Amino acid sequence: MPPPNNNHFCTCSIIGTGSYVPDRVLTNDDLSKIVDTNDEWITTRTGIKERRIAAEGQATSDMASEAARRALAAAGITAADIDLIIVATVTPDMFFPSTACIVQKKIEAWNAVCFDISAACSGFLYALQTARHYINTGNRKTALIIGAEKLSSLINWKDRNTCVLFGDGAGAVVVQRMDDDAKEAPGRILSAVMGCDGSLTDLLKVPGGASAIPVTPENVDQRLNTIHMEGRETFKHAVTRMCQASEQALSMAGLTAADIKMVIPHQANLRIISAIAERLGIPEERTFVNLQKYGNTSAATIPVALDEANRSGAIQRGDVVLLVAFGGGFTWASTVLVW
Ligand SMILES: CC(C)(COP(=O)(O)OP(=O)(O)OC[C@H]1O[C@@H](n2cnc3c(N)ncnc32)[C@H](O)[C@@H]1OP(=O)(O)O)[C@@H](O)C(=O)NCCC(=O)NCCS
Repeated sequence: MPPPNNNHFCTCSIIGTGSYVPDRVLTNDDLSKIVDTNDEWITTRTGIKERRIAAEGQATSDMASEAARRALAAAGITAADIDLIIVATVTPDMFFPSTACIVQKKIEAWNAVCFDISAACSGFLYALQTARHYINTGNRKTALIIGAEKLSSLINWKDRNTCVLFGDGAGAVVVQRMDDDAKEAPGRILSAVMGCDGSLTDLLKVPGGASAIPVTPENVDQRLNTIHMEGRETFKHAVTRMCQASEQALSMAGLTAADIKMVIPHQANLRIISAIAERLGIPEERTFVNLQKYGNTSAATIPVALDEANRSGAIQRGDVVLLVAFGGGFTWASTVLVW
């Protein structure tokens, strides 16, 4: 039986999950008509079979808001109950205002303070831990945490190294402070760790389009406003850091890998997920994988997967669940919770 909480935090629980992915499906075969690739290469190297692409005119905030509405419905609360909205995204609607402010308007959550977090694929877990700190101080009670991305807006559709990997979507959770006597509350967070190595910023980035390399016709011609990645190096760091972060969060919670009922990892590459599971000694059937359907949706992968795991019954009340992410920065993060 896991300890209720050993991390000097109040009991803070996920009380609802929701997700949204756009209708349009882009298969590996579709991509093979755009770049020199094929289903066999993409499937064996990544595990991805298809991904979703947002409709024209559909912004990150639209997907985020729909995921948020579904999470609120699942939690059985209204938008007026939310006092904090954090959107984790690297594809905001615009530089400012924040996508969280736009979500507030769309779902009419008028009692919330709102801001975005930029931590790439670790963004959702960074946002979750940030909300936990706000809740722990007593400053906020009920937070809406969203991971939402329209990565199709950052893809270089001529670069086969990257365009096959990414997709669009959004996931959300409602996190709430529990009463002092609710030490065994479902969905409670036991521990969380976050890390960053800014010396490796160049390995995964969108170099242009902001203040360092502002938008000019020349820069756009050179595709500087799209994703650039050193795939092999990223792969190695991802496996190492996700294993370390998992072990740290488990140790902080007083648990071991044997206690985990389900790992919900960032969905970037099936080989990364398999390598982590093997190193941690967790059998494959206890890793949740949905990247074959959606590809890498950056900050959205974990909340979308958590929502699917919850709704499909893959995780049940009382299960120990490990969430672990890695992304540009490099950033990494891990959270242990009891569902
Ligand atoms: C991107 C990734 C799938 C590439 O797999 P890889 O085994 O490392 O492959 P390489 O990059 O070494 O490329 C091998 C060959 O396949 C080719 N290739 C790359 N993409 C291809 C594609 N979509 N279709 C066909 N061939 C492709 C390369 O050009 C290269 O050819 P060459 O040997 O003739 O030069 C892998 O490195 C990866 O998943 N990295 C981590 C990515 C990630 O998770 N990023 C997000 C982290 S949050």
